[in-house]
Amino acid sequence: MAGEQSDLPPLADNESGVIGLMEVEPSPVEETPVEFKGDYFPSPPSSTTTSTLGLGNHGPAYYLQRVQKYSSYAFTVFASFHIANTSIIPLITRSVPESNRYLLLTRPYYQSALTEPLVVALPLIAHISSGIALRFYRRRQALKRYGAETHRDRKTIPWPSLSGTSALGYALIPMAGFHLWTTRIFPVYLHGDNSMISLSYISHGFASHPFVSFAGFTAMVGVGAWHFTWGWAKWLGFAPSQVNEIESKRHLIRKRRWYAINALSAMLTTLWLAGGLGIVGRDGKTGGWIGREFEELYNSMPLIGRWR
Ligand code: HEM
Repeated sequence: MAGEQSDLPPLADNESGVIGLMEVEPSPVEETPVEFKGDYFPSPPSSTTTSTLGLGNHGPAYYLQRVQKYSSYAFTVFASFHIANTSIIPLITRSVPESNRYLLLTRPYYQSALTEPLVVALPLIAHISSGIALRFYRRRQALKRYGAETHRDRKTIPWPSLSGTSALGYALIPMAGFHLWTTRIFPVYLHGDNSMISLSYISHGFASHPFVSFAGFTAMVGVGAWHFTWGWAKWLGFAPSQVNEIESKRHLIRKRRWYAINALSAMLTTLWLAGGLGIVGRDGKTGGWIGREFEELYNSMPLIGRWR
């Protein structure tokens, strides 16, 4: 129990007794899971439980979920640029060379030394690791709550359930990771530079490796669009699971939300793939020395070099 005391404010000198212990009223607070404390025991406005940082007395789950939430806001900034450059602009201009100009124009905004960590790298790391940490934290809470003592007890207590949105998030990691590696990390590793990478590099890949490209981009865009849309629905309180239990038409409302979120996800996927596959994917190979650089990149990729 000693570790639990850290949630309490430091004792003022006059509050401690003769042997440094403070007498407190019996209270069930310690038996309540930390993350539910606020709901069951709302503290009065001038409560002494406010931490010295003024952050309030919330449990780790509260902060982890906020990290998970706000990091996805930052990533959405990048995702908006990305869908504009790789789908909407190609759809409007109907030309890959023309769209490349916009891509190169906006690149400095999200690929600078300051913005790339802020809107891509750090949000992604924070979003994924806070989700994993939240899962382990909830697992530990469940073991404590059910009083697991032996290895067998632990095995009988289930892990926190994996929502569909979370499962899509995990599926997205290897796909987005591979995409990031082929377009951002590998060119820098091989050529020391990323500046010749453009939509034409992707078109070249579609022409030389049609199967991997069509299947890979379709899966990644689909999984991503469904994760983003369901994710945003949850943050905005529109997920079917967030319908009020006492709502009289709750079954109907839940059903409607489920269809609406899936319809939006399908629309986002269609829009992204229309520009990504329909315009960029069909532009063919690049010639000249840039084309040779692209070839060299694709041929040097482990596995991809051999897959078509
Ligand atoms: C617009 C951007 C994004 C939004 C709005 C978003 C939203 C969410 C939400 C709401 C959850 C929690 C799901 C739940 O508790 O049921 C979640 C979990 C997750 N997200 Fe995202 N996300 C975004 C981008 C990404 C990206 C780009 C990746 C990976 C490349 C990713 C990977 C994950 C993973 C692995 C989890 C599972 C964590 C867990 O519950 O164990 N997310 N996301």
